[in-house]
Amino acid sequence: MKNLVVTVLTAGLLVSASAAIQLTERQLPNVVGLDIMRRAIQNPTERDALRRRQSKTVTETLTNEATLYYANVSIGTPAQDLSLHIDTGSSDLWANVASSPICTYRGKPCSSAGTYDANSSSTYKFVNNDFNVSYVDGSAAVGDYATDTVSIGGQSIAGLQFGIGYDSTIPQGILGIGYTANEAQVNTAGLKSYANLPQAIANAGLIQSNAYSLWLNDLDAGTGSILFGGVDTAKYTGQLQTVPVQKIFNQYAQFIITLTGVDLVNSGNKQSMTADLPTAVILDSGSSLAYLPNPLTSAIFSALKVQYDQSLGAGVCDCSLADQNMTLDFTFTSPTISIPMNELIINPNAGSSTNNPSGTGTRGNQNTQNSGQNAGNAGSQCIFGIAPAEGSAAVLGDTFLRSAYVVYDLANNEISLAQTNFNATDSKVLEIGAGTASIPDATPVSGAVQAAVSASAGARIGAITGTSGSPFATGTSTSSAISKQVSYEGLVLAAGIAAALACA
Ligand SMILES: *[C@@H]1O[C@H](CO)[C@@H](O)[C@H](O)[C@H]1NC(C)=O
Ligand SMILES: *[C@@H]1O[C@H](CO)[C@@H](O)[C@H](O)[C@H]1NC(C)=O
Ligand SMILES: *[C@@H]1O[C@H](CO)[C@@H](O)[C@H](O)[C@H]1NC(C)=O
Ligand SMILES: *[C@@H]1O[C@H](CO)[C@@H](O)[C@H](O)[C@H]1NC(C)=O
Ligand SMILES: *[C@@H]1O[C@H](CO)[C@@H](O)[C@H](O)[C@H]1NC(C)=O
Repeated sequence: MKNLVVTVLTAGLLVSASAAIQLTERQLPNVVGLDIMRRAIQNPTERDALRRRQSKTVTETLTNEATLYYANVSIGTPAQDLSLHIDTGSSDLWANVASSPICTYRGKPCSSAGTYDANSSSTYKFVNNDFNVSYVDGSAAVGDYATDTVSIGGQSIAGLQFGIGYDSTIPQGILGIGYTANEAQVNTAGLKSYANLPQAIANAGLIQSNAYSLWLNDLDAGTGSILFGGVDTAKYTGQLQTVPVQKIFNQYAQFIITLTGVDLVNSGNKQSMTADLPTAVILDSGSSLAYLPNPLTSAIFSALKVQYDQSLGAGVCDCSLADQNMTLDFTFTSPTISIPMNELIINPNAGSSTNNPSGTGTRGNQNTQNSGQNAGNAGSQCIFGIAPAEGSAAVLGDTFLRSAYVVYDLANNEISLAQTNFNATDSKVLEIGAGTASIPDATPVSGAVQAAVSASAGARIGAITGTSGSPFATGTSTSSAISKQVSYEGLVLAAGIAAALACA
């Protein structure tokens, strides 16, 4: 049982939002904005799922469709171009080096995302050798911390601290944009935090406050955007509503808010889930799927006739579920985000005409995947975008975040949410001002419910907690495990995850 804590927001937050709009509207707002790209990754549960380590080891051919979001960043003098995975669930920016074991593997898997060479940068400075980050999915990077000039969205920050992955398990670097309290050097070396990218952009005066907006856009769209220091009011409908971020271990370390309602809405009929609500959830753009408490996931699965695939650790359903005119609505005390069915259904075979054992082309296929990712798949099996958390922290990843416009206000420890405006091409950027109640066009939610945060919610870095007692342990499997290989652009890895799809 979760303990309920109902807080009343302080008077300072009740300042009229419309006043804030007037104050922040400018000809040339102080913001740092850039497009972000969606790209396929080889396996929808690879980066997030993690939790499947106890299940039997099966490997999987890399034809699966899942997505991560990337931003172009350059580091050093002269600039070295990188494409980094945007992660609100971690807090370090880091890059691979070309000479690391993973990057020298056959097929040079790091080349498309780019690597960093300290010796080629005249502005590189060594900081310490305490860079050691491990993510809940079991991936990790170790090496040095350094400082160098980092450019993003046409702006440069001199002397930004970041990690150099002299050894890592992932071929693309990460742009962690969470709280500084969650930095690897704080967690693993006991060092003080440093100003990471969002904080450094604010410290440099390029934006007025450490806050940014993330618009992931439609599953079938290639790009979204991130806007540091601003809100683009053309990218959402309705109004932004603001709820508090909750602490973990008495500090702000993750974007934790409370989910209070989940409703399946079909032609105006509403079927409400009640199991395990309200529940604290982490907003994590680095997770492809959403992970909810098992009883709640179970209720959603039965309402939508999704079958749990034990070996996959996720639900599978007929791909035609994507064509149903229904939404799954997530409420956070007041704001409700409606997720259309087609945003929740991931087609593992979209964009790949046949099995592709070498795994090449997972990126090259992007254009194909962008067009009609869910089209014409009646009868074939798809992955459902919500999976059981198995006792670990509940996470709302990209399958949820695509349907929302989210403002992460690290300065005021608040999250503002509104329904996304898919494929919006207009732009109306308002600056986020300094001080409280600074998010333009946002109204605070009064009496926001705050469910207790479990200790496992802090587990982005470090080990995840146990998974016993799951009602899913004996779940229905729609397919037998098929032995396959996980490959990444020619890199073959044994994976402790089992993505055995009936359609494979
Ligand atoms: C990122 O850089 C690559 C290579 O220069 C370019 O092809 C791509 O369009 C850029 N993406 C974005 C979103 O700016
Ligand atoms: C720079 O190059 C030297 C000589 O090749 C090498 O010993 C050193 O490890 C390199 N330093 C870094 C930070 O890569
Ligand atoms: C990195 O941290 C992990 C977990 O704290 C530890 O097991 C590992 O030995 C560390 N690696 C290095 C190279 O320090
Ligand atoms: C957004 O654009 C993509 C790509 O053109 C398209 O497939 C998708 O249906 C659009 N989404 C909406 C909600 O219009
Ligand atoms: C989907 O359902 C909504 C609400 O019930 C309705 O307004 C809309 O017309 C429906 N769309 C289609 C394509 O059936």
